[in-house]
Amino acid sequence: MQLSFAAPHAVASGAWVVGALDGNALTPAAQKADKASGGALARGLKVSKFTGKSGQVLEVLAPAALGASRILLVGLGKGNDFDGAKAENLAAAVNGRLNTAGETAVTFEIDVPKGSRLKPGALAAHLALGAQLKSYTFNHYRTKNLDEYEPKLKTVTIATPAVSDAKKSWTALEAVAAGMFFARDLVNEPPNVLYPAEFARRAKANLTKLGVKVEILGEAEMKKLGMNTLLGVGQGSERESQLVVMTWNGSRKKKDAPVAFVGKGVCFDSGGLSLKTGPGMMGMKGDMGGAAAVTGTMQALAMREARVNAVGVIGLVENMPDGKAQRPDDVVKSMSGQTVEVLNTDAEGRLVLADALTYTQRKFAPKFVIDLATLTGAIIMALGPEHAGLFSNDDRLSDRIAAAGKAVGEPVWRLPLGPNYDKLLKSKIADMKNIGGPNAGSITAAQFLQRFVEDKRPWAHLDIAGVAWQDGEQKALAPTWGTGWGVRILNELVAENYED
Ligand code: BES
Ligand code: MN
Ligand code: ZN
Repeated sequence: MQLSFAAPHAVASGAWVVGALDGNALTPAAQKADKASGGALARGLKVSKFTGKSGQVLEVLAPAALGASRILLVGLGKGNDFDGAKAENLAAAVNGRLNTAGETAVTFEIDVPKGSRLKPGALAAHLALGAQLKSYTFNHYRTKNLDEYEPKLKTVTIATPAVSDAKKSWTALEAVAAGMFFARDLVNEPPNVLYPAEFARRAKANLTKLGVKVEILGEAEMKKLGMNTLLGVGQGSERESQLVVMTWNGSRKKKDAPVAFVGKGVCFDSGGLSLKTGPGMMGMKGDMGGAAAVTGTMQALAMREARVNAVGVIGLVENMPDGKAQRPDDVVKSMSGQTVEVLNTDAEGRLVLADALTYTQRKFAPKFVIDLATLTGAIIMALGPEHAGLFSNDDRLSDRIAAAGKAVGEPVWRLPLGPNYDKLLKSKIADMKNIGGPNAGSITAAQFLQRFVEDKRPWAHLDIAGVAWQDGEQKALAPTWGTGWGVRILNELVAENYED
């Protein structure tokens, strides 16, 4: 898809998109379109129930005396409520609709509605982001009927009086979109293709180009470091486990402690010897969604040259049953020195994260560490696909994460931690077991991770099992199974709080 910004101009072909406020107040661009079409919009309004509410569209096809193939009058709602997210959703919805219609080009001419605090350049950039995110496809494995799947819409023009502001805002958002596309690709790839070493190779190939240092540790190196809880998970797999360490030094304060992101990268989760059921195993290629989000975030930060020092650490493994696989009842010693009785090999994500958290804290002494993981089915029961679960030992970090999520449409909901939950991890013979009781599964998983937080370091855990991929209704900005969830919230958190 070709995306560009231009000053308002006569639209000579393709679709022309203009806006109306709630109550059918046509914006100046809409008045222009109405006039150019000999009053087609005004006539259309009389015969439809369009009222200018957010989400509504009035379409006029092949208007007489106009070069444009169609005019789309879109509802902007109330000016006060019109923000970046509304602009993104509007552009995404129009993109989807035009693709279905077979349109090949579109020009958005959306004036900042009265009452909105958006600046024209920012409005234009958010329209671009919505159109871009919606244009994502994953068709590498289709050999037939590509016509049906490949988008028809090839050219998107955003008309704006503030072209240079728009381009500036877009540079930052474009980086976020690229990071999300990378994360989506990683989640969508099948597990026979994207195993740990291949994930590591792609991370290195993509990020090194952008100035990110990427180091890959194999099993021998991890063994030396004592990362036995991570290695235990990969023990039954033919594929070698990997730890990928990505560093971006963008701060002017070269020695500034970094922010750190840790991702669960289970490239396939069969459950191991505590084998999942057939239906329960489907989709478990996406169990590396946390690692994908961390990798995509590193890409976004590097692409927009964020003034921050950041590290991303991902533990990549495949959880398989085998004669060599870890058994329920095994006891393993983590890099932290704490021992874990593995009572269920399907509670593997926390074992991977435990060692990755220890490694990250000891190696980098970060300002804070945030881990992302498709950790529990229970979080899907609790929050569905609407919120990720947030757990934290630090109110300030937690509030910042929640604010960032709200700002960019990746909302989170905080759940409690506490000593009475922690008790549920008591083991008969080791320091802890890897499962709690039948209740509060997402919380006991988070309690387990908290045991690997050192020196009261600010830490947060995002359980993204419900948001990393989508089986039911599609999210407005995510057209495929993998959503790329996590890149936007982490990027926003950094942009708002941790850059110099
Ligand atoms: N990867 C799964 C969690 C998951 C389940 C993510 C469904 C997305 C959809 C995780 O490794 C897992 O199996 N968790 C178990 C933990 C249990 C054994 C304590 C779960 O949630 O059932
Ligand atoms: Mn599992
Ligand atoms: Zn898992």
